[in-house]
Amino acid sequence: MWNYTDKVKELYTNPRNVGAIDNADVVAEVGSIVCGDALKLYLKIDDKGIITDAKFETFGCGSAIASSSALTEMVKGKTIEEASKITNQDIVAFLGGLPEEKMHCSVMGHEALTLAVAKWKGESIPDELDTEGEIICRCFGVTDALIRKVIRENHLKTVEEVTNYTKAGGACGSCIPRIEDIIEEELKVAPAGESEKEKRPLTNIRRMQLVEETINNVIRPELQKDGGNIELVDIDGSVVYVALRGSCANCVASNVTLKNLVETKLREFVEEGIEVVEAK
Ligand code: FES
Repeated sequence: MWNYTDKVKELYTNPRNVGAIDNADVVAEVGSIVCGDALKLYLKIDDKGIITDAKFETFGCGSAIASSSALTEMVKGKTIEEASKITNQDIVAFLGGLPEEKMHCSVMGHEALTLAVAKWKGESIPDELDTEGEIICRCFGVTDALIRKVIRENHLKTVEEVTNYTKAGGACGSCIPRIEDIIEEELKVAPAGESEKEKRPLTNIRRMQLVEETINNVIRPELQKDGGNIELVDIDGSVVYVALRGSCANCVASNVTLKNLVETKLREFVEEGIEVVEAK
């Protein structure tokens, strides 16, 4: 049995934005029903490039539905440029986490978004989605470019991790030696820990968005289980000021909660250097 977060369960049992948009400005379809997961993303985009509506149709497990639903919630109201910066890890953060074995659902959401952005801009199909390119895993139709991209962006080091994120290697296994070669090649180019995301510092707006998402979707639901709550008061650089509410407000262990839950989760989902301070 998978250990799903409350947000995943909520979006699985009550998904938002399911269905098609009849007059969509862009439709992007990724995955394949034959391979077990498929996602069709519909976007309505106004003349300023703002995504005014987003819907999806998906075939897959509960976390595929939750990831697709999360993606549509995340892109609505953003410009195409802003939406194009969303990563699969941002989808995971919005969901408050996904079981490792289900990370491929967040990657599928990101693939659909990448394809939608490329189609909207009139660009050619991104390499990682171009099945005319080199296919490494024939069972799941996974390209060399997708495997390399996912390794780089998610610091992957093992075949098992690549399988979790792409499904490649998860059936007959005949592609595993080639996946091992790719991992070795990628680790030579960018030693573990030097992902694109780490090299690029967050902008203030992006940091604020991620902090809000992590508080709303990960931290607050945890505190509410014990009658507590949290309010985001301010953000100054990488210092996040919060106030604990409800049963957490006068708890003698509030400092432990701030460090062990709030700061730990913000460091996990937003940025390593985040410091959490209680607002007085
Ligand atoms: S070719 Fe990759 S699992 Fe079969």
